[in-house]
Amino acid sequence: MSLACYTKATRPFQGQKPGTSGLRKAVKVFQQEHYTENFVQCILSAMGGAVTGSTLVVGGDGRYFGKKACDTIIKMCAANGVRKVMVGQDGILSTPCVSCIIRKYKTNGGIVLTASHNPGGPNADFGIKFNISNGGPAPDGVTNKIFEISQEIVEYRICPELKCDISKPGTQEFVVDHRPFTVEVVDSVKDYVEYMKEIFDFPAIKGLLQGTSGPPLKVLINAMHGVTGPYVKRIFLEELGASPDSVVNIVPLEDFGGHHPDPNLTYAADLVKAMKEGEYGFGAAFDGDGDRNMILGHKAFFVTPSDSVAVIANNTDCIPYFKKTGVKGLARSMPTGCAIDRVATKKGVEVFEVPTGWKYFGNLMDAGRLSICGEESFGTGSDHIREKDGIWAVLAWLSILAVRNTTVEQVLLDHWATYGRNFFTRYDYENCESAPCNQMMAELDAMSSDSSVVGKELSHGDKRYTVAKIDNFEYTDPIDGALAKKQGVRVLMTDGSRFVFRLSGTGSSGATVRMYVESYESDPATFTKDAQDVLKPLVEIALSVSKLKQFTGRDKPTVIT
Ligand code: G1P
Ligand code: ZN
Repeated sequence: MSLACYTKATRPFQGQKPGTSGLRKAVKVFQQEHYTENFVQCILSAMGGAVTGSTLVVGGDGRYFGKKACDTIIKMCAANGVRKVMVGQDGILSTPCVSCIIRKYKTNGGIVLTASHNPGGPNADFGIKFNISNGGPAPDGVTNKIFEISQEIVEYRICPELKCDISKPGTQEFVVDHRPFTVEVVDSVKDYVEYMKEIFDFPAIKGLLQGTSGPPLKVLINAMHGVTGPYVKRIFLEELGASPDSVVNIVPLEDFGGHHPDPNLTYAADLVKAMKEGEYGFGAAFDGDGDRNMILGHKAFFVTPSDSVAVIANNTDCIPYFKKTGVKGLARSMPTGCAIDRVATKKGVEVFEVPTGWKYFGNLMDAGRLSICGEESFGTGSDHIREKDGIWAVLAWLSILAVRNTTVEQVLLDHWATYGRNFFTRYDYENCESAPCNQMMAELDAMSSDSSVVGKELSHGDKRYTVAKIDNFEYTDPIDGALAKKQGVRVLMTDGSRFVFRLSGTGSSGATVRMYVESYESDPATFTKDAQDVLKPLVEIALSVSKLKQFTGRDKPTVIT
């Protein structure tokens, strides 16, 4: 029987503009009649002729509204001429796994259903992100097109009678409008786990955890009730033989247990607390969709994400994948601490500074110029896929510990001894009123083109800095020449210290101001000092230059990392 498709009349919704990483809004917004359908149609329409006969991957982090969205997407893919949808069992696929599957099966792209680290549940957030055929988030050219279409959309195509059970792996064939249409429900973790076993030396990591050559490393992995639960279970318990008490919160929940599924010192406080007790030598947590990670050592020794990526880049000889591919280049997002730049210089490879958002790394990887990259926002990854990858980062760290036979803290101490330490902190002011924040950014932007600022002395207490450069960061993609403007105002000091201001592009309401402060120290006596103490003077200077307290009315940030 051929299922019929229908064209439904609709009207544009305001604000269907993909941000740093897809469209993120409150679930209630997505639940409005036609809202989700409109955005999905915009994605499919933006594919143009390529949609006909295509294969798309669909899956998400298991948050509330994900199954409903999967169902709508399958029905709309069928009606728009997609040939095949590969969907995660029960709609579950981590963001890195979507990227892995797109690449492995050479599909035309995928749709990821996640609001990443934003809370989930009926009163929280949902998100839809489009990834292209390289497995990475759609670049600005594509997301701009999606947004343009969203402003003019008058109809969408759907096949409402298509009933598809996505609770069991297997292939289901349909005839839609006299055309064949296939839905393949894929195991949520299989392809990803197989790939990790190619990239890393699992027996060596297993040896580390079980103590085949020395005391066993006790690990504590916290999936924060996000999508990584099933991956953690398969990899750490079944493949690496970790004890059941070394993994927690591994059942994905639609509301992440009511928590903020964001692996940082504030929202993963339970991991920090457990690590402080001293029983475990290594701790890690992931965000809702599994692309972010936080690494802790014994007694909750904190590895900043900026340091984490630099350490991995410095220890690629511990990872079989890089022994095979070599290291082609390194990169970080602009606000990320510059530790990785020093590794690149020492290794004699290129280093790129791109705007915030993983989509800016994709072209460089595709062109064979980038192997390892990271963002200060707990994103670490490589060219094995085109998304950041939380579990990959943890396996990279465990590989380093296995080969070097040492502790997390010692790895960092050795790193700083070689390169010096880039102290880094980020202050987030969440959910502020938009208008004054925009005004603050406008004033900083105006300041960035005021040449009299350069050479100015800024001081707090007895710490003095001289401004070497101020700008609103711009990036021209070296591969396709695309220009990204106004990516954040940065104030660079003559000694390499700096601060940066930008507004978040992932929030679902109001404005979030991000302030990033970094200071480089080469004196070994400072290496073990508390980062907040070291950075305090520059933090105060940044607050006063930006007049942040006046504009936001906030005395304190919501989150400090
Ligand atoms: C934030 C992070 C950014 C990351 C993005 C998606 O974006 O700062 O590094 O790529 O989430 O995980 P922002 O809210 O700052 O725009
Ligand atoms: Zn995420």
